[in-house]
Amino acid sequence: MAQISIDRKRSCGTISRYIYGHFAEHLGRCIYGGIFVGKDSDIPNVNGMRTDVVKAMKALNMPVLRWPGGCFADEYHWRDGIGPQESRKRMVNTNWGGVTEDNSFGTHEFLELCRQVGCDPYITGNVGSGTVKEMSEWVEYLNSDGDSSVVRERRANGQQDSWGVRFWGVGNESWGCGGLMRPEYYADEYRRYQNFCRQYGENKLYKIACGPSDADENWTEVLMKNAAFCMDGLSMHSYTIPGGWNNKNSATKFTKDDYWETIAFAEDIERKLMLHAKIMDRYDPKKRIGLVIDEWGTWFKVEPDTNPGFLYQQNTMRDAMVAAVSLDAFNRHCDRVFMANIAQTVNVLQAIILTEGEQMVLTPTYHVFDLYKAHMDAKELDCFVEAGQLGNEKYQVPGISASASEKDGKVTVTLTNLNPDEGEEVLVSLRDEKITEAQGRILTGRMDEYNDFGNAPLKAESFTDFRIRDGALLVKMPACATAEIRL
Ligand code: AHR
Repeated sequence: MAQISIDRKRSCGTISRYIYGHFAEHLGRCIYGGIFVGKDSDIPNVNGMRTDVVKAMKALNMPVLRWPGGCFADEYHWRDGIGPQESRKRMVNTNWGGVTEDNSFGTHEFLELCRQVGCDPYITGNVGSGTVKEMSEWVEYLNSDGDSSVVRERRANGQQDSWGVRFWGVGNESWGCGGLMRPEYYADEYRRYQNFCRQYGENKLYKIACGPSDADENWTEVLMKNAAFCMDGLSMHSYTIPGGWNNKNSATKFTKDDYWETIAFAEDIERKLMLHAKIMDRYDPKKRIGLVIDEWGTWFKVEPDTNPGFLYQQNTMRDAMVAAVSLDAFNRHCDRVFMANIAQTVNVLQAIILTEGEQMVLTPTYHVFDLYKAHMDAKELDCFVEAGQLGNEKYQVPGISASASEKDGKVTVTLTNLNPDEGEEVLVSLRDEKITEAQGRILTGRMDEYNDFGNAPLKAESFTDFRIRDGALLVKMPACATAEIRL
């Protein structure tokens, strides 16, 4: 039997709601078709945004959405995406599939999407192929109410008041697709670009510097040493890619060994974020600067017969397990992790939503986010897990993952049984207190099970397979399952 012991007196802080953030790039069918279909589409929409998709995003209380990329951000010129849609500049999306980008989804459309969803916008500006002036004027266009030509232009385009965008990324993967820069060079560029991202009115920009890939400690060291004083956040990207870049897994047809490799890979994100947090602690002991894990999730082979540049993959219970262990890790480190954005919202990589024409399906990953909603803005609680190791000869992981929080007097624990074959009994206790009542919801299925169009059996359902024993809760977790239990 596994044991989880929760201590309400020990906490590393508040779990920022932005840990439950998302990311939508101009990539494949994420924006076009997945979110935005245009006003004239037969697919039900409001101002061009799919009604079904917006409703699903809203239902998660989605806190923040990152846009326009990704790699796309460093070849995106925001002026191409404003003004009358029919006369916007066309370009070829050289990063993603070589398709024509007609710029019909631009700044105004993105902010309309965020308005409909009720989330904060997070915009990444172009450092790789853009200028300081271009970035500076984008911020002015978004946030200023002064009388300038740029503001007049926004008003002429139909937006009277500034939007007050808070989250601002200065380049994306500047060590890679964003310009192949060395950290020393990027640190200087960051200092220069951010300097001209002005503060307007009451709105205070939260400036996010491009951070490391995976365990690249040198990048973090150089950035913190040279630019900590002028950043609010430092990003980090870490994908779960079992098999590696050249031998990726299929999203749906995989072996038990692939499963364990995936889970071990996903669990490793905690080690990586701790490496960076340790460096950040040296330069920023008061933890003013947030770690912003603005790209994470699984990366598998694209589905057969789809454009390789569109990164379209199905999403199984294995993805749900990855989401659960990752979110648990972010919760546990909420003293440093301020934001995280799973890649990507619709039809790309570890998507929470898939669409096909007018059809839409919610993936198991979507339901994990639904089960974890109560952690947003809650006080993290120390949650000690004792569980046996599981896996194969090469990869071993603790069989149970969990995290806990408290809000309005209610304790929420999310627990996951990573065993794909067998159920597990878990004894949940509250230190120095007795549990008197509990309500639960659960997502469970075979490790390779997924929701498809017209056949979506996997969802969060009511869960009652637990009982109180001597003031503790004895939970019977089925195989491959994530549950939310409220005490
Ligand atoms: O999410 C897909 C791509 O992965 C992003 O564009 C890039 O930032 C990362 O390499």
